[in-house]
Amino acid sequence: MPYQIENVQAIETLDSRAKPTLQVAVTLAGGLRATAGVPSGASTGSREAVELRDGDPDRYSGQGVLKAVSNCNTEIRDLLSGRAFDSLAALDQALIDLDGTPNKARLGANAILGTSMAFARAAAIADGKELWQWLPTIEGQAYRLPVPCFNVLNGGVHAPNPLEFQEFMISPLGAPSMPEAVRAGAEVYSALKKILASRGYSTGLGDEGGFAPDLATPQQVCDLLVEAITTAGYSHGRSGIMIALDPASSEFHKDGRYLIGESQLSSEQMIALLDELVERYPIWSIEDGAAEDDLADWQTLTRELGDKVQLVGDDNFCTNPAIISEAIDNGVANAALIKVNQIGTVTEAIDAIRLCHTNGYAQMVSHRSGETPDPFIADFVVAMGSGQIKTGAPARGERIAKYNRLLEITASASLPYGLA
Ligand code: PGA
Ligand code: ZN
Repeated sequence: MPYQIENVQAIETLDSRAKPTLQVAVTLAGGLRATAGVPSGASTGSREAVELRDGDPDRYSGQGVLKAVSNCNTEIRDLLSGRAFDSLAALDQALIDLDGTPNKARLGANAILGTSMAFARAAAIADGKELWQWLPTIEGQAYRLPVPCFNVLNGGVHAPNPLEFQEFMISPLGAPSMPEAVRAGAEVYSALKKILASRGYSTGLGDEGGFAPDLATPQQVCDLLVEAITTAGYSHGRSGIMIALDPASSEFHKDGRYLIGESQLSSEQMIALLDELVERYPIWSIEDGAAEDDLADWQTLTRELGDKVQLVGDDNFCTNPAIISEAIDNGVANAALIKVNQIGTVTEAIDAIRLCHTNGYAQMVSHRSGETPDPFIADFVVAMGSGQIKTGAPARGERIAKYNRLLEITASASLPYGLA
């Protein structure tokens, strides 16, 4: 049934880092209204769709989004109000056409994505369905509750500590269910907090809710994670809890070298470091282990570690089907991170997932460091059947909104848990 849009209304709100973002409301004919909050990243890939910011130094240090808000409330509203769409794909295509640029630079990917998400939510309500039941699906990937990757220790641009590696996550691969996975994440997080406090480290939090102590090396962090997993009463390994890393290595890659502490690692040394970590610790997934613009490093990394560990492309893939397609041809990575705001419409993120699935690439659905309490990606990952999500620590409202939504979905439907 077609969904007739009556109105689109955006306002400037705040994300979890005190930076402006958009909340977009779509009203359907008859008055049904749904809203969506737009996420925003800090360690962004250079080919992400353009997040439109005002650049006015007198407001939010140039970070305001009033132009994007205005685009929703004028051009996008003018295009959509009174029009009916049969599907999310049709709505998204109309937005892409209206923008007219290859990277959504004119209207802003933030304005477009908010409209896309709010439309999906409104249409689901209109059909009397849960969002996950309404969203399109991927042939061959059934509904699934994902393994959560809890980012329990933050570094890189997400924390003020000396750690170059950005994210240290724990993944309860062997949990029997979503509630047990969430429980494991929370119990290990609490155990880690006690261990850090007992050794005199800060238990202050980074942007994604993980601790941000003054640790300097990835080995120190992995030692602590293994200890916290054991202290909390869990085993490590495929039948228990494993570690996932996102070094976000583009952030410390300068002139062909990976700058870690006092060392300037060559490409070979960086890959050897990751290999050493995989050999020594229960690590199952590494994201952005090579810099986004270094194809040769990515290919070597994939050749050398791709059989042992999941290698996730984030900054280099930007959830962009055209870029991912080229990367698949080039033998880069074996999984993709999926962030809806990197590409700017829900439909194109689904296209990226479909492409990955068809080519045997795993998909990890992801939040951004700047989030809102909108749990959209929880429904999204269940609908896609990807089996993996990273959405921060099991702490802070904007992170637990997603985990709690997954618990709510678990309670309402009998779905399998685990990797796809
Ligand atoms: P971002 O980081 O949301 O700050 O870009 C997340 C990531 O690199 O995965
Ligand atoms: Zn990343």
